[in-house]
Amino acid sequence: MQEKIQQLKEQLLQELEQIKEAQAVIDLQEKYFSKKGLFTTLSKDLKDVADDIRPKVGALLHDVKTQLQADVAQKLSTYGDVLKTSFQDAWIDTSIATPDYKLGNIHPMSVMMQELEDAFSAMGFMTLDGPEIESDYYNFEALNMPSWHPARDSQDTFYVDSKGKCPWVMRTHTSGVQVRAMQKYGAPLRMVAHGRVYRNEATDITHDHTFHQIEGLLIDKNISVAHLIGTLQELISTVYKKDVKIRLRPGYFPFVEPGFELDMYSDELGWVEIGGAGMVHPHVITAGGLDPNEYQGFAFGMGVTRLLMLKYKISDIRLLSSADIRFLQQF
Ligand code: PHE
Repeated sequence: MQEKIQQLKEQLLQELEQIKEAQAVIDLQEKYFSKKGLFTTLSKDLKDVADDIRPKVGALLHDVKTQLQADVAQKLSTYGDVLKTSFQDAWIDTSIATPDYKLGNIHPMSVMMQELEDAFSAMGFMTLDGPEIESDYYNFEALNMPSWHPARDSQDTFYVDSKGKCPWVMRTHTSGVQVRAMQKYGAPLRMVAHGRVYRNEATDITHDHTFHQIEGLLIDKNISVAHLIGTLQELISTVYKKDVKIRLRPGYFPFVEPGFELDMYSDELGWVEIGGAGMVHPHVITAGGLDPNEYQGFAFGMGVTRLLMLKYKISDIRLLSSADIRFLQQF
């Protein structure tokens, strides 16, 4: 045992002498003195040493190890300067002024969506999501618009090639979520869904192929047009942060009966159409898996893009998707 201690000591001193960099000293420390290091392993042999000399051998091992640890630490300290310079190289002056970073801000469309969502949830509506690539069934068929229906013409969109099977479309409105919601949650139901919709109508500065809608649906017993008007009035005024005049005109959508066009009054433009609304058609309630003799409801869909343009007097719809910093910074 004493011999082994001597051997290990010499081996270490030899290795230490050849070392030329700080990392190698650290590795050597690990190799000899860590939990699995050579000295630790050797100390396990102590139990096999004869009783009468064990204390002596133990003391020897301890002294040798302590001395060597000091030697190694001493060697490491000679590299102190090296370590210091490398730290200095890596030092960063956090007080230096940064280049002129421009902070971004939340897109006005997102702000308006959030405001609408808040106003809806204050009235107990849950927020739902629907797919942007929607089946022909939910987008049209279940909404009382079979394939031959002329109302499809006013919502021409992008059809997704499905090789003759159930066709898919880029949804033309958020109304598809109505039937999905009834099927999933039943009645009574208060839900709101908003998001991108698509139409083949990028024809002028107020129409684009992609725009945002928000849809509201309420299904319960004894629901009337009065509830619809009250809800719309409350919503619009919350978003515009003042009393806004709204009106309903008779309008036709196959999925409501009676149906309305929804207008709001703007000081600059007079009455402006902002969406459609009505009492949910019995066929739609049936498609949702509910009994139209038991439940009624109202639904409405608004162009959030239109609301936003009116609120901030934005003259060209394309600015909203332009990523033009000069435009976005105004909000
Ligand atoms: N989905 C209709 C549209 O996009 C709007 C609407 C929604 C009308 C709900 C009535 C009820 O034009």
